[in-house]
Amino acid sequence: MTQPPPSGRAPPATKDNRQKLFERAMSRQAYAGHALIEVLHTAQELFGHLTPELLREVALKLKLPPSRVLGVATFYNFFSLQPKAEHTAVVCLGTACYVAGAPQLVQALERRRCACAAADADKEAGPARLSVQSARCIGSCGLAPAVVLDGRILPRVSAAQLERELDKIGITA
Ligand code: FES
Repeated sequence: MTQPPPSGRAPPATKDNRQKLFERAMSRQAYAGHALIEVLHTAQELFGHLTPELLREVALKLKLPPSRVLGVATFYNFFSLQPKAEHTAVVCLGTACYVAGAPQLVQALERRRCACAAADADKEAGPARLSVQSARCIGSCGLAPAVVLDGRILPRVSAAQLERELDKIGITA
């Protein structure tokens, strides 16, 4: 039987390095309070939107009052505290993912996003069904090309595999 790690915590389900990458980004800024906007940008780029947990973590690590972090996150309209759609896909456009086929993944996602928008055009206004975002590198270059779909990493994914994953969550063509 597999023993749990010494910390008693379960091992991560995926090779999702985003938390490690986020920690590294804050460390590069020496956890300085004046780097708040840059740190929030990195958090949003990695995780899609700024959750209360992320905001709390930023406040703690940068030694800032939580009210200040929330104030900045809500003041600038390029920060989002909510997922912008029912489903979120973040395509990594870092070098490793780009050369391994990320542009074809973006095309596949955009096709689906447009098809959903057209199908929903007659319905009552509501949140979009699919939001497509990009990141510079999500810290999983060995899994290139990678897409994070609703918080789950799809490693070495082809456009056809990605489309099958979208079918499963009801984002159909
Ligand atoms: S370039 Fe895509 S994970 Fe690093």
